[in-house]
Amino acid sequence: MTDAQPSPPAWYRDGIDHIWLPYTQMKTARPPLPVVRSEGARLHLADGRVLIDGIASWWTAAHGYNHPHILAAVEAQLRRLPHVMFGGLVHEPALRLARRLAEIAPGDLERVFFAESGSVSVEVALKMAVQYWLNRGETRARFVFFRHGYHGDTTGAMAVCDPDEGMHARFSALLPRHLMAELPEDDARTRALDALLARRRHEIAGIVIEPLVQGAGGMRFHAPAVLATVARLAQEHGVLLIADEIFTGFGRTGTLFASEQAAVVPDIMTLSKALTGGVAPLSACLARAHVFAAFCDDDPEKALMHGPTYMAHALGCAAANAALDLFAREDRLAQVAAIAEQMRTELAPCRDLPAVREVRVKGAIGVVELREPPDLEALRAAFVARGVWIRPLGQVIYLTPPLTIAPDDLSRLTGAIRAVLAD
Ligand SMILES: Cc1ncc(COP(=O)(O)O)c(C=O)c1O
Repeated sequence: MTDAQPSPPAWYRDGIDHIWLPYTQMKTARPPLPVVRSEGARLHLADGRVLIDGIASWWTAAHGYNHPHILAAVEAQLRRLPHVMFGGLVHEPALRLARRLAEIAPGDLERVFFAESGSVSVEVALKMAVQYWLNRGETRARFVFFRHGYHGDTTGAMAVCDPDEGMHARFSALLPRHLMAELPEDDARTRALDALLARRRHEIAGIVIEPLVQGAGGMRFHAPAVLATVARLAQEHGVLLIADEIFTGFGRTGTLFASEQAAVVPDIMTLSKALTGGVAPLSACLARAHVFAAFCDDDPEKALMHGPTYMAHALGCAAANAALDLFAREDRLAQVAAIAEQMRTELAPCRDLPAVREVRVKGAIGVVELREPPDLEALRAAFVARGVWIRPLGQVIYLTPPLTIAPDDLSRLTGAIRAVLAD
């Protein structure tokens, strides 16, 4: 038990042999750390140690943990109405949130379908696209997706992930075959994507992309012009564009939505993660007016056939409304710009380290990519020993801190990366 405290609390001892952790070889992995409290950019462990969080709980806690405004909104909602089924019934936090998302989303992305996780909102987006074409009298069930892309772990989402990056190759027998393409980052790739769409447009329902940053596939950045090219080709060939802004949404790349930087209005957009500020599970699938119009009909068969039990969870919607208040009230995008500048300065010395292949920063995402795969367990432990919570993705050490992180705390994170790599 290197990372865990020497004498963990009773709940840890009693429960640990019954839990199954994500992406974890349960036989060999080091024991997980017991967290008992969170606050701002800090996680408090059961043994009293405090870690500065460089990951913001898988990119969700944009406003820091336990923000009083979000907590108050959730507490008030909890007493009024924690949850009610969304079939035939609606509630104020969901409708208010839908209106507000429609207002801030690009263009006429004005219709909101709620779900409970990012992956499920991707499933909804894919089904929405397929049924959009069915409702218009066409059968199109294939999607174009991009190498290094990641869109979630459910079956439909896995089928549009890079099979290798997403560790989903082993499930290939389960998955429908879609069409993987390279991002159009040069003329040859643009011509290849153009040709693919020209050849198969009548079977392609849409193109799925993480705009500007491919997150779980290695924190890879592409220029707004690349996204603009994808959007142009989608339009020219008459296929839908699905922007998965689950990671990039809510300021992470420097604008509220990454699509804005290419002036792109996707036909469908998925949101989750920072939507509730990391307080409750909730996701949203936004559709443009013309997409929604394809479902509005006298024919009941043309209704969107999806409805998760916990969709539009009232506590999640209350948290999300409060998180949107914070975006309106506090200048998060200025904070993102400041974080970017500080990371650029403080991560730059890593370039001189022999183990480092590249250092890159976009918005509040800082990346130090190594030349070789590290011993991940040892690397994680070294970070914990320095009082920071950083979880590299393979060769990619990255920071996605809360957007509210104080400069000193951010320096602790960047300093830990420099020190651990220098060691
Ligand atoms: C771009 C993107 N899409 C979808 C997902 C899946 O979201 P969830 O883990 O909430 O199912 C993720 C998760 O990391 C993601 O980064």
